[in-house]
Amino acid sequence: MLHISDHPLIKKDITALRNRETGSDEFRRLVRRIAQLIAYEASRDLDLEQYRVQTPLEETAGWRLTRPIILVPVLRAGLGMVDAFLDMLPGARVGHIGLYRDEETLEPVEYYTSYPETLGQANVFLLDPMLATGGSAVAAMRILRNQGANDIRLISLVSAPEGVAALEAAFPEAHIYTAVLDHGLNDQGYIVPGLGDAGDRIFGTGAETG
Ligand code: PRP
Ligand code: URA
Repeated sequence: MLHISDHPLIKKDITALRNRETGSDEFRRLVRRIAQLIAYEASRDLDLEQYRVQTPLEETAGWRLTRPIILVPVLRAGLGMVDAFLDMLPGARVGHIGLYRDEETLEPVEYYTSYPETLGQANVFLLDPMLATGGSAVAAMRILRNQGANDIRLISLVSAPEGVAALEAAFPEAHIYTAVLDHGLNDQGYIVPGLGDAGDRIFGTGAETG
């Protein structure tokens, strides 16, 4: 299921994120701020359980999350979203999946994985700002599923219809939260209009990054 944000602050910040004049410092701040707003929306249906809490005046009913939370950023660009999610979900554990897209084939290449053993009991947030062909997201979902994860929300900032279709074909039950759905991909597999290479813009490694 695809959830596209219609929050005005997200629309405003995505516009600044797209702007080629936005340098890495501001780009990182924007990624963090948008991720925080999406974290709020994507955590809306987390399971709660009741417990009793003692206020200074009397005992009353309180709430806590039922399941542990695990964040899994896809390296590199997903790292830019981690702190925002930790602000909202401070008790979360953090795994990592290292993938890069082969520039010729556009196929994902796995180079690193690390995650807590409790994936199967957790609400998992898979963090990657770009859902382009969907190859990386499908590979990351498969890795997490094979390790026992059964409740995974993919959090993206900019998505292409091709990536959404690929993920929904592979995982029909998947929940995708995105800030914006763009109109397609160019010949090099970049999202258009998009924002360029998210990893390069976050870390200042691209030729065109400010
Ligand atoms: C980007 C992005 C996704 C992937 C999306 O990573 O962060 O992981 O591309 O493309 P896809 O949907 O076509 O697979 P990239 O491969 O550029 O690696 P990087 O973050 O290390 O630069
Ligand atoms: N990865 C990116 O960083 N940007 C795109 O547009 C597509 C893949």
